[in-house]
Amino acid sequence: MGRVLSLFLVLPAFAIASSAMATDAASGARVFKAQCAICHATSDHAPSGIGPSLAGVVGRRAGSQTAFAARYSPAMRAAGRVWSEAALRAYIANPAKAVPGNHMPYAGLHNPAQVDDVVAYLQTLR
Ligand code: HEC
Repeated sequence: MGRVLSLFLVLPAFAIASSAMATDAASGARVFKAQCAICHATSDHAPSGIGPSLAGVVGRRAGSQTAFAARYSPAMRAAGRVWSEAALRAYIANPAKAVPGNHMPYAGLHNPAQVDDVVAYLQTLR
């Protein structure tokens, strides 16, 4: 009886710990839909919204999405970086700090696990 009981206690705790640790593109997609999709398309065929399409953003040079070219801030055009996973994590967590003077009207995503998940989701946008 004691063993059965401890299984019930241990299993849910393990499930919670592993879901919190694993990077999860599906959960990133949900966060993206709730917090980013209002401004960002995820296909290059979709018209730009308030922000540039994020299709293929991983590995792309900052400020270089063709359809959005004329609308980037000078700060984003001058950022001079390639969107690596690390660069994306820093920007999504704190846009104003990562690219000072950029115009993304978004305060930042403060949950580090969600930031990782969103970056995992962005990697699926080819
Ligand atoms: C209210 C609109 C808005 C929201 C919400 C928003 N963004 Fe943006 N985003 C923009 C704008 C506008 C820019 C261009 C900024 C500039 O040129 O300075 C941008 C730029 C970016 C870039 C740089 C793209 C490039 O081509 O260099 C990335 C990456 C990005 N956003 C990711 C996200 C993610 C991920 C979220 C959600 C967590 C998000 N954004 C939420 C409007 C938004």
